[in-house]
Amino acid sequence: MRKHILMKRLFIILFGFILLINCKFSYSHNNVINNSPETNSNEVLIKNFHPGEIWTDMNGKHINAHGGGVIFYEGKYYWIGEHKDSGTSNALAGIRMYSSEDLYNWKDEGIVLAVDPENSGSDIEKGCIMERPKVVYNKKTGKFVIWFHLELKNKGYKAARYAVATSDKITGPYRMEYSARSCKDIWPLNMSLKERSEAIKSFQDKEESGKENSVLKGKFVARDLKEGQMSRDMTIFVDDDGKAYHIFSSEENATLHIAELSDDYLYHSGKWIRILPGRSNEAPAIMKKDGKYWLITSGCTGWAPNKARLAVSESIWGPWKELPNPCRGLNAEKTFNGQSTYILKVEGKKDSWIFMADIWKPENQLDSRYIWLPIEFENNVPVINWNDEWGL
Ligand code: DGJ
Repeated sequence: MRKHILMKRLFIILFGFILLINCKFSYSHNNVINNSPETNSNEVLIKNFHPGEIWTDMNGKHINAHGGGVIFYEGKYYWIGEHKDSGTSNALAGIRMYSSEDLYNWKDEGIVLAVDPENSGSDIEKGCIMERPKVVYNKKTGKFVIWFHLELKNKGYKAARYAVATSDKITGPYRMEYSARSCKDIWPLNMSLKERSEAIKSFQDKEESGKENSVLKGKFVARDLKEGQMSRDMTIFVDDDGKAYHIFSSEENATLHIAELSDDYLYHSGKWIRILPGRSNEAPAIMKKDGKYWLITSGCTGWAPNKARLAVSESIWGPWKELPNPCRGLNAEKTFNGQSTYILKVEGKKDSWIFMADIWKPENQLDSRYIWLPIEFENNVPVINWNDEWGL
């Protein structure tokens, strides 16, 4: 009898052991996306990019970092973006960050720059608009600096400001420094004295100022000289020499501006230019390869997708030359139904860049998706091919 009980116990232990082994085996073989909130953050779950699909973080939640940017710091990538909620595109929480070692699996680092409470009257009061945040590290000051597009609460897109926040730690919390219009009282480097007076004339001349030609001449530059230039869709680019640049849609979105930053990355230095005047570019994303700067932008159609644009220059200060749409394949005429947001350099891999774009869902921005695709070079010009699934 005792022998029988012993045998039974042994059988149960053996059965339990086999079950355990089996579970572990099937878990590691079906490990593409795990929606369990108890996910062990050391486990590699996602092995490829799936552009346009739900992309879960290590807690199994859809990543919430839209219009974002990525930096690499001490062996890890950090992705910041707009935290979105359903029912509104306005900021109810702030800017969220994720970290990753492999670019596929992202750990939620939480809200790193939080909105201020309602009725606080602060520039970043809950309900304001915080868009396209980018984070950079300043070697001289040891500070992390976030730049983003800010619109004041209940003012639509009229304020057209940029904003700056800083932290001593990459994962924050970030402290809001200030928000402003760009380069008050400073004319762009690429407008001669004659062009400046023509711009003033076209702004003052009621008849002339309605015409498209007057936008090209810079009527909005003249109009906004005292208050500062409008600053909406934006990116930040740090060049090989450590100089950083703020690239943004200005002049009622008609023209892009490129403004050099001060050495601490907190302000504009006062050196700036207008590029591609009158072309209505939004969503700027930039990269540099073999001394050439490549700029990818979208047209200006609100949240709706349109055809991507490409421009090239041998100097950040231009001249910039437009080239055809770099996108290829399914929905290439509409940037794969997305809009550019950033170009990410893959560390330790020669000539490897990722084009980052957002598929916006204005009716429920929580469901907005990400498109990450490799940038390839054909005849030394960037091309972006659609791919349902790909890996580095
Ligand atoms: C297009 C911009 O690229 C987005 O960041 C956002 O500002 C929408 N317009 C708002 O319509």
